[in-house]
Amino acid sequence: MTQNYPKIPHPTEAWADEYKRQGIPSSFRKDPTNAVVEFISWLETQPSNERQKAADLGCGLGRNSFYLASRGFSVIAIDLLQDNVNAVMREADRTKLPITAFAQDVSSKWSIIPNSLDIAIDIFCYKHITNKQSQKNYRRELWKAMKPNGFYFISLASINDEFYGPLLQNSPCPIEKMVIDPYANIPSYLYSISDLSNEFSDLFTVIEASEKTSSSPMHGKIYTRKVINLILQKNPL
Ligand SMILES: C[S@@+](CC[C@H](N)C(=O)[O-])C[C@H]1O[C@@H](n2cnc3c(N)ncnc32)[C@H](O)[C@@H]1O
Repeated sequence: MTQNYPKIPHPTEAWADEYKRQGIPSSFRKDPTNAVVEFISWLETQPSNERQKAADLGCGLGRNSFYLASRGFSVIAIDLLQDNVNAVMREADRTKLPITAFAQDVSSKWSIIPNSLDIAIDIFCYKHITNKQSQKNYRRELWKAMKPNGFYFISLASINDEFYGPLLQNSPCPIEKMVIDPYANIPSYLYSISDLSNEFSDLFTVIEASEKTSSSPMHGKIYTRKVINLILQKNPL
């Protein structure tokens, strides 16, 4: 039996449409993600917590980049969309905060100096790289860019998430737990804590892991959101 799955659009066009439609909270929210605020509080409890260089991977409109910059970091903000990068640069110029934004696919080669990042954050970007080899390329670039004692923070939707979880029933690739947001037509992978930890275990060690519950809108309706947060450090060579 053949099934008709939705056509997966080009990610740049799908994201550009989503920022016009504003159905996903990060497309319109200005406040930093709570989990990032909590990560920075956690960082303050660590013996090694230098505040020099940070990267915000898939920065969107930069709400978390601006938060990190306000907390003393010099931030490299990367996003697929040139329009997002232009908006971040305009705001950085206006606020005089130390943020450099540029447009690129985070699964292609980074121009970040090796061993230079004290922290890197990824808030709902990695899950949208729906190709396992591209995700591997990203992890390799991340590994190169992080300082040996730096911390990487990743946050993404759990398989238990009330919006994304049920979409697994119509998955075009159930083995990889791929789902397609039917409103934005944007694909992503869903994870459990152990799946995500295993995927990063080629190059990283998990320092902290949690699954958090909250309530928030997706495409105009409130859902019980389940989000996985991991803090990782790179493995030595
Ligand atoms: C859900 S939004 C989150 C934005 C931001 N992290 C936030 O929390 O406000 C995901 C972002 O990742 C970007 N993105 C998706 N795939 C990407 C890729 N392969 N390389 C760079 N950015 C990507 C999208 O353009 C979008 O801005």
